[in-house]
Amino acid sequence: MELFKRVDEVRTWSRRTRAAGLTVGFVPTMGFLHEGHLSLMRQAREKCDRVAASIFVNPMQFGPKEDLAAYPRDLDRDLERMSSVPVDVVFHPDPEEVYPPGYQTRVEVTDVTRDLCGRYRPGHFTGVATVVLKLFHIVEPDLAIFGEKDYQQLVTIKRMARDLNLDVRVEGGVTVREPDGLAMSSRNTYLSGEERKSARALSSSLGLARDMVAAGQRDPARIIEAVRRHIEDHPHTRVEYAELVDPETMQAVDRIGPRTLLVLSVHVGRARLIDNAVLTAS
Ligand code: PAF
Repeated sequence: MELFKRVDEVRTWSRRTRAAGLTVGFVPTMGFLHEGHLSLMRQAREKCDRVAASIFVNPMQFGPKEDLAAYPRDLDRDLERMSSVPVDVVFHPDPEEVYPPGYQTRVEVTDVTRDLCGRYRPGHFTGVATVVLKLFHIVEPDLAIFGEKDYQQLVTIKRMARDLNLDVRVEGGVTVREPDGLAMSSRNTYLSGEERKSARALSSSLGLARDMVAAGQRDPARIIEAVRRHIEDHPHTRVEYAELVDPETMQAVDRIGPRTLLVLSVHVGRARLIDNAVLTAS
């Protein structure tokens, strides 16, 4: 496994690889890797001849009061985990390599980023779209994979790739969960023992919503009310949003359709956790 810190190194590797007729799969990450990231890398491994991953805690996607400084980092452990996939190339740039002095360009995807996380984290998706577009230009992958846990992010990147005619296929990878259902996230490390127990309420509320739909409930307001009550019955939790949306547009629906996405953002102690599930009604 090769570790590159400079743009020209990874670009040269990618161009050589593709010139040799091999395909490149790419998984961008902010590091502190867990099984969820590794499953995306395995997915890239299955579909492409070579796999590149990036580890870059992107300052542009953090708000001034968010956890940029506290975001967990452990490069040695990440490299060890990636070698088990195995990943061929890791791009781990310094912030100045990505945003040199004088940097002033941003990418904005509008409608799909307006609500949900976009409403509570102004500028977040602009930071994500900007860094992902830069990474796509640097790595020049055939395929890029993003976790479905960050569903709005996945929709935003797919939209950007279509809108800007990017020559890369963007795919989602299923959410990997702890045995009790909690979606894996680097931010789970912020949870104390008691908060960790309460955090199970996110995934159990998705199950509750599924059961309500299976029993014939089609009214989003009823489902959202039950989900909120279920989560906030657990100590240390505060629901930021719980909404039922169309999985393509990310706009709220007024009735549960054949495919409706339940999206959640919940503060548990100092951690802000997100989760989602597609609800299917016949
Ligand atoms: O999902 C993440 O870890 C980040 O938002 C991403 C896609 C690596 C961009 O910084």
